Amino acid sequence: MQSNLDPFRPPDLVITNAVVAPCVTPRATPGLSAEIRRATMLVRDGRVVEVLPASDVRRSWADVAQIDAAGYLVTPGLVDSHTHPVFAGNRADEFERRIAGEKYLDIAQNGGGILRTVIATRAASDDELERLVRGRLARALSFGITTVEAKSGYGLDTENELRALRVLKRATSGQPVDVVPTFLGAHVFPREYRHDRAAYIEKIVKEMIPEIAFDGLAAFCDVFVDDGAFSVDEARTVFAAAARSGLKPKMHADQLSCTHAAELAAEVGATSADHLERISPEGIDALAKARVVAVLLPGAALGPGDHLVAPARKLLAAGVKVAVATDLNPGTSMTENLLLMGSLACMRYGMSPSEALYAITHAAANAVGLETRVGSLEAGKEADFVLWGVRSVAELFYHFGVSHAVRVWKGGREVTF
Ligand code: NIG
Ligand code: FE
Repeated sequence: MQSNLDPFRPPDLVITNAVVAPCVTPRATPGLSAEIRRATMLVRDGRVVEVLPASDVRRSWADVAQIDAAGYLVTPGLVDSHTHPVFAGNRADEFERRIAGEKYLDIAQNGGGILRTVIATRAASDDELERLVRGRLARALSFGITTVEAKSGYGLDTENELRALRVLKRATSGQPVDVVPTFLGAHVFPREYRHDRAAYIEKIVKEMIPEIAFDGLAAFCDVFVDDGAFSVDEARTVFAAAARSGLKPKMHADQLSCTHAAELAAEVGATSADHLERISPEGIDALAKARVVAVLLPGAALGPGDHLVAPARKLLAAGVKVAVATDLNPGTSMTENLLLMGSLACMRYGMSPSEALYAITHAAANAVGLETRVGSLEAGKEADFVLWGVRSVAELFYHFGVSHAVRVWKGGREVTF
């Protein structure tokens, strides 16, 4: 780090004439720009050295690689802080049925839903699953995403949960997107244990978590706490085991019903509590006090058909750090398009474009415990950044549904996508 910041060593890459949004602090006030116009960014040894306003540029670096951004926007590489990419098959027919009025939980109770994807995922070979995950990571990169949190959760037995995490690890090698693995064996109860929930929890606690921790296959342990999934008490048991094995807690909380899962997230010191469409006022206070990051998933809020709006403004007003993610999964949110989620955060949740960008960069890095490495463009952070074909943060979300990524760098190296 010291040598990286040595002021006498020249940078090895200079980006000039850029509109840089460094995402160092959130800009809560709508209209208050978070952009530095005509900025220059210096990169050395794969890390950011400095972002300078043009008027501060003190030297010219004649022999150094330079990129003229021509007045276009540069931001940190995006961080997708909640995805479920390890699955086979698709549920397009359920999408159609929900549009025709059927309910997500009714479909799940009648042979569809998560358990249907479990059947398809168990039946897929390792190679097939790896190919699917690689495709999803490549699509994420095309939207300017350089770090992804990725969950298991469509195996739901020891063999298949471990297999999902191993396949994920293999799919990560030889491609540029960093993956933070999360164990989600507590997604729903598998068919085999429908009538003996305690036995499945025992499997998670005594077999899955110790083996996953021993093999270093996950950084986090997530539990889906909801009606039709795990109760608050069952989740507490899972998190106690995770803590003993060094897996940090994350949660699907207060999505389909208010079970006061957010309060549990605060109690166990979760890194993040995700979804939160039905969070209570007490839950909001609890997250603020315990400094749990809220991860909002506007795609998944549309998916089940009830079109709920997570209380983004209330969370922000309470001082909660708010991230936004895709929730890429075959049931409720079949998308890798994190920019579109930023647009939905603006248009449906009343977040300003600057808040939305912060939510898919710096706050998202907080949600996966990587805030000291990625998520903002400041001295010492990894030089993960994107040159976009737009000239402002507002324009990034205003023109929605497409990828504006033109060039992407990971650790100071340009990557192709
Ligand atoms: O995040 N909430 C739980 N899990 C997913 C849905 C998964 C599925 O339907 O396959 C979610 O929305
Ligand atoms: Fe999810």
